[in-house]
Amino acid sequence: NENKLQDIIGHCKEYGFVFPSSEIYEGLGAVYDYGQNGVELKRNIRDYWWRSMTQMHDNIVGIDAAIFMHPTVWKASGHVDNFSDPMIDNKDSKKRYRVDHLIEGFAETLDAEKAKDLLARMDALLAADDFAGLKQLIETEKIKCGISGTANWTDVRQFNLMFATEFGAVASDDPDENKVYLRPETAQGIFVNFLNVQKSGRMKIPFGIAQTGKAFRNEIVARGFIFRMREFEQMEMQFFVRPGTQKQWYEYWKEQRMKWHLSLGISPDRYRFHDHVKLAHYADAACDIEYDFPMGFKEVEGVHSRTDFDLKSHQEYSRKKMQYFDADLDENGKAYGNYIPYVVETSIGLDRTVMMLLSEAYTIEDLSTEEKKDDRVVLKLPAFLAPVKLAVFPLTKKDGLPELADELMKECRPLFRCFYEEKDAIGKRYRRQDAIGTPFCVTVDHQSKEDGTVTIRHRDSMQQERVPMSEVKHIVMKSLQV
Ligand code: GAP
Repeated sequence: NENKLQDIIGHCKEYGFVFPSSEIYEGLGAVYDYGQNGVELKRNIRDYWWRSMTQMHDNIVGIDAAIFMHPTVWKASGHVDNFSDPMIDNKDSKKRYRVDHLIEGFAETLDAEKAKDLLARMDALLAADDFAGLKQLIETEKIKCGISGTANWTDVRQFNLMFATEFGAVASDDPDENKVYLRPETAQGIFVNFLNVQKSGRMKIPFGIAQTGKAFRNEIVARGFIFRMREFEQMEMQFFVRPGTQKQWYEYWKEQRMKWHLSLGISPDRYRFHDHVKLAHYADAACDIEYDFPMGFKEVEGVHSRTDFDLKSHQEYSRKKMQYFDADLDENGKAYGNYIPYVVETSIGLDRTVMMLLSEAYTIEDLSTEEKKDDRVVLKLPAFLAPVKLAVFPLTKKDGLPELADELMKECRPLFRCFYEEKDAIGKRYRRQDAIGTPFCVTVDHQSKEDGTVTIRHRDSMQQERVPMSEVKHIVMKSLQV
């Protein structure tokens, strides 16, 4: 549904949700800026996730680790050696492809058996790091991807997705000596602080550490608007458990996270679990929570049972014990004693969640009558996530109506985000609020001066009712409860 995606991208720009980065310089690939409404929506989602994870779980606390980390972190985590995609350039079209994407794209035009065979052969070659074989496969199968004739390919090479930069101002002969990476996931900041938090917080297993923050990946193919970006934000939680109990916690977190998604008011048929068959080197079970985006079902969150891989590896590289002492008794009455905990992780992309909510909320309603054609664009966001909760409109700019409206603003502003506007016809003002998802608009008119009532208009039903002005803040506050 390419049209819907394009409509959403246009809408985001027009109404201050998302702008291409450095747009006056033609933008920067797969980097985006959030505008005045986007930043509020994003913050509301982040706050809701944070509250659901930390405040609602007594045994989960948060941290905020730095983006820069010691370079050895990424050796230990496996990112230096394994966090790469095989890439090939088409010299004629000057396009760069991820080899697996190339073959997947090609597979769509093949019959199912041949496609399966091709993908299996590619997998085997990848597993064997046989890049010459991969190149040959692409050539002999004439995987052309959009250009005619025999394509002219470069060699296949592994492309590490981490961004590197130089740290400190001291010159060095060894270019790698001052090299630091921008973190490609927030999770490692949690692993390296595991004992700091456990000890200072006197945490008892099972417990979790949550974190939100920026992550950076030099994605080869970055597309789909804010779905795949080079700079993005993650919301991750690592849950530390006793070895042997990870499967049960994995199931628990799958269920909890799906409940969270449904609490956004999105219906279950828009989601599905996708279990990983091919597991990452650190996992003993993993799945994605997929949402039905305009481009089809795609991952929005991952739940991973990461075993003790990360802590064990950090113990090895840092030579610092990463153990926990468990004083609880097992069925034989013996203390569990010292061990490296197992980890179940939940990892969700904040930008992808923004995109999910925008895709879900973006609605065009046909309100045409016989006399007039009329479309209404409305973002049906849940009230607690909407950038603005209440818009206040004096009907006219005179007769003391702005002053009365201002009183309502004063009363409500400390409680939730409000917006005041006195320009243009009321109908136009309503539509602008619909487009950013404001759940309530209040109009202050001449009757308000006489009897202290105002008109409150509900976004989705467009119904209006007269209520005492003093009631407005209660109506809005009530709608914000989750
Ligand atoms: N610590 C585990 C981890 O990082 P991941 O599956 O690579 O796992 C987790 O990433 C989530 O981060 C994804 O489900 C997705 O929502 C988000 N994400 C990953 N790469 C992204 C990108 N390039 N742009 C936007 N979001 C991304």
